[in-house]
Amino acid sequence: MRILPLLPVLLLAATPAFANPFAKGDVKIGKVLHDKSCVSCHASMTGGNGSAIYSRLERKVNNPQQLKDRIRACNTNVGANWLPDEENHAGAYLNNAFYHFK
Ligand code: HEC
Repeated sequence: MRILPLLPVLLLAATPAFANPFAKGDVKIGKVLHDKSCVSCHASMTGGNGSAIYSRLERKVNNPQQLKDRIRACNTNVGANWLPDEENHAGAYLNNAFYHFK
């Protein structure tokens, strides 16, 4: 049972892997990609700069997987042709700026 006192330490050390679902994404690159390809529609739907779609009360995205799925769907719909890495950057940006999923 010598390992027991170590458990909290081990758990803490393991936490960062789960703490940010888009840990490999680059927030700055994501913002550039997003601002280029993703604002026009959302802005015409919500007014302003379009970011209200991410913070509206009835928003559709409520967990990291839904955010990934939605980014992929919009990416495909609008023909932005982002690679998975780029989707991840956009996820990092949107999560950092709006969704704050852990
Ligand atoms: C052709 C128009 C259009 C473009 C361009 C567009 N989207 Fe969307 N997006 C939509 C629509 C429509 C919805 C709302 C769907 C709904 O309410 O069910 C949406 C919703 C979303 C949401 C979910 C918002 C919520 O409710 O939480 C995310 C995230 C998103 N888009 C990401 C993106 C990304 C990333 C891009 C750029 C690749 C992008 N969108 C470009 C039309 C667009």
